[in-house]
Amino acid sequence: MTTKTTSRGAASLPLNTILSGDCVAQMKKLPDESVDLVFADPPYNLQLKGELMRPDNSRVDAVDDEWDSFASFKTYDTFTRAWLKQARRILKPHGAIWVIGSYHNVFRLGAELQNQGFWILNDVVWRKSNPMPNFRGKRLTNAHETLIWASKSEGAKYTFNYEALKALNEGVQMRSDWVLPICTGHERLKDENGQKAHPTQKPESLLHRVILGTTNPGDVILDPFFGTGTTGAVAKAMGRDFIGIEREADYRRVAEARIAQVRAYDSDALQVSTSKRAEPRVAFGVLVERGMLRPGEVLHSLNGRHKARVRADGTLVCSEAKGSIHQVGAQLEGAPSCNGWTYWHFKRDGATVPIDLLRQQVRAEMAGD
Ligand SMILES: C[S@@+](CC[C@H](N)C(=O)[O-])C[C@H]1O[C@@H](n2cnc3c(N)ncnc32)[C@H](O)[C@@H]1O
Repeated sequence: MTTKTTSRGAASLPLNTILSGDCVAQMKKLPDESVDLVFADPPYNLQLKGELMRPDNSRVDAVDDEWDSFASFKTYDTFTRAWLKQARRILKPHGAIWVIGSYHNVFRLGAELQNQGFWILNDVVWRKSNPMPNFRGKRLTNAHETLIWASKSEGAKYTFNYEALKALNEGVQMRSDWVLPICTGHERLKDENGQKAHPTQKPESLLHRVILGTTNPGDVILDPFFGTGTTGAVAKAMGRDFIGIEREADYRRVAEARIAQVRAYDSDALQVSTSKRAEPRVAFGVLVERGMLRPGEVLHSLNGRHKARVRADGTLVCSEAKGSIHQVGAQLEGAPSCNGWTYWHFKRDGATVPIDLLRQQVRAEMAGD
C-alpha cells in the first residue's frame, strides 16, 4: 500500500492498482476523504431483449454481459445508491465526481447524485463523431452519451482548469458539447481471438479532457468501474495517481497489461497554461487529445530554423516562447501573426508533414467521410 496524505492526515491508499471484486465492498475499505476525483462509467442497464441484428443478418456486438444485467429499475437504483454513497464518503471535501451514461441510466444517476447532496456543475454531451447506426431504423441514431460533473456539495472549491480547457480549445471557452470519436482503430483493445476485449471501452480523448480540466498532477482518481482501465492509462500518462476497481478478471488483465505500457509525459509537458486566440473549428489540442501528436513531441518550423515541443494542453513551448501554435510561430519569426497550421510540421517515418494534415483528417471524420 502507498501512503498518501489526505485531508485527514496520512492514509494508506492502494495507489495505481486495480482492486478486484465488487466496487461497493472495495470502496468500503478506502478511507474517508482520500481521493480528489471519481470517474465512474457504471453499468448502463441496457435491458436488451434478444439479439440485435444488422440488415445483413450479422449480429451486433451489443452490451449483453452479466455485469450489465439488473432485475428491475429498483435493483439498479439500490445499487446506484450504494456505490454513490461510498464514492461520496471517499471524496475529499473539495473533490468532484464525473459519471457517464446513456439515456438508459443517466437520469437515474443524476437524480441519485442530487439526492445524496452532490452539486451538479455541468452535464456534458459527448457527441460521437462516428456513432453506430440505428440498425432497425425505428428510432433516431443514438449519437451521444451524457456526462454529469458534480462537486461533493454546494459551495465546494472543486478543481477547474478553465484556462487549460480554453487553451485546449484554441482560446475559446470550452463548451459542454464535446465531439469526439468512439474508441476504434489501434486504441481499441482486442482479445486473443481478435475480438473487442470490452464492449464499452471509452476513448482516451474523453478522459484526457476530464483529467486535464478537473484534476492537477499528483491528484488521486478513483474509477470504481475500471473495465479496460482507460481512466488509469490516461491518469498515468498525465502524472495523476489512480485506483481502479473491476469485478471481471479478464478486464483486469487487459487493463493491467495496457497500463504497464503507458509512459508518463514529462512534467514540463504537463504544465498547463493559458492560450488567448480562438480560431478554427478544429482546435490543435484535439490532435493531442486523440494521440495524433503526443505531449513532448517536437514540431519543426516550415523553414527548418525552429523547433518547439507539444504540451498536454495543446500549447507549444521552446526556449524562446510558449503559447498556441500561432503565437509561438509568430514570436519565433518576429512577425505580427502566423498561421501555425501551415508553419508547424512533425516527423513521421522520415517524412516531414504539416500539422494541418491532421486537422484535415479530424475534419473529414467529423463530416462522416
Ligand atoms: C461501462 S464498463 C466501464 C468501461 C471502462 N470505462 C473502459 O473504458 O474500459 C463498466 C465496468 O464495470 C464493471 N462492473 C460492473 N459492476 C461492477 C461492480 N459491482 N463492481 C466492480 N465492477 C463492476 C464491469 O465489469 C465493466 O467492466
